[in-house]
Amino acid sequence: MKKITVNDIKRSEKNLTCLTCYDYLTARIMDRETDLDMILVGDSLGMVVLGYEKTVPVTLEEMIHHTAAVGRGVERVFLVADFPYLEIARSTDRVVEAARRLMAEGGAEAVKIEGAGPRVEKIKYLVDHDVPVVGHLGLTPQSVDALGGWKVQAKAEDSIRRLGRDARDLEEAGVLAVVLECVPSEVAEELTEILSIPTIGIGAGPGCDGQVLVWQDMMGLTGETTPSFVRKWGDMKQILREGVNSFCNEVRENSFPSQGESFFLNEKINSEELSNLLQQ
Ligand code: KIV
Repeated sequence: MKKITVNDIKRSEKNLTCLTCYDYLTARIMDRETDLDMILVGDSLGMVVLGYEKTVPVTLEEMIHHTAAVGRGVERVFLVADFPYLEIARSTDRVVEAARRLMAEGGAEAVKIEGAGPRVEKIKYLVDHDVPVVGHLGLTPQSVDALGGWKVQAKAEDSIRRLGRDARDLEEAGVLAVVLECVPSEVAEELTEILSIPTIGIGAGPGCDGQVLVWQDMMGLTGETTPSFVRKWGDMKQILREGVNSFCNEVRENSFPSQGESFFLNEKINSEELSNLLQQ
């Protein structure tokens, strides 16, 4: 088992694999029983696990809680935690403290921060204070309202230009990789050529250095809300539906639990004696 380090991620030129994860058991399976390179405890946690409408309300405490659960399940993969929207607006020192908590208490090896522009200064400060940072550009869910909804970004010339500038600023600030979300394939491919850091695409075509997806999307749990760029590698919703319905049926027809699924006393005690014992 070879531990995947920040240098492996920085150096990867093709086919980097990343999935989101929010709990210990799933993390353990991904870490020990698959070839996955990287786990992201995304703030998609808010929508996928906590039932929020957006990622915006996710708190630092919620991110630390779930990152720590995932962190306890991994030894091999590279672990990244999302930096919550509510934290990035705080003072530079508070931002460093929050990032350090995600690392020290959560076990994250890097934090992912959405956006560029006014945030670049804080990102550089974090990098200069030994916090590895992954950037995130294109459709950044924390800014979904400012972007006018869940839309593909960087289609018009000015927004292509802005994406290029933001990505180069992040690279200069020292981010170790950048996620490109919902960006036209041609734009993502060309940007990947220009940047020396790896790009990790989500809805950004095959020309990126890696791909990331929300695991509940790619395993068919999210159903009607699954974005069109996701391929489905399993139907967990169907498996769950069938399993729960079979459980209900078998409980109702008294075929569960069977003898093999029950415990028994070592010595036989008749029911009168048992009743007496239980009422003493
Ligand atoms: O929050 C998240 O899960 C993400 C990815 C899907 C890139 O930001």
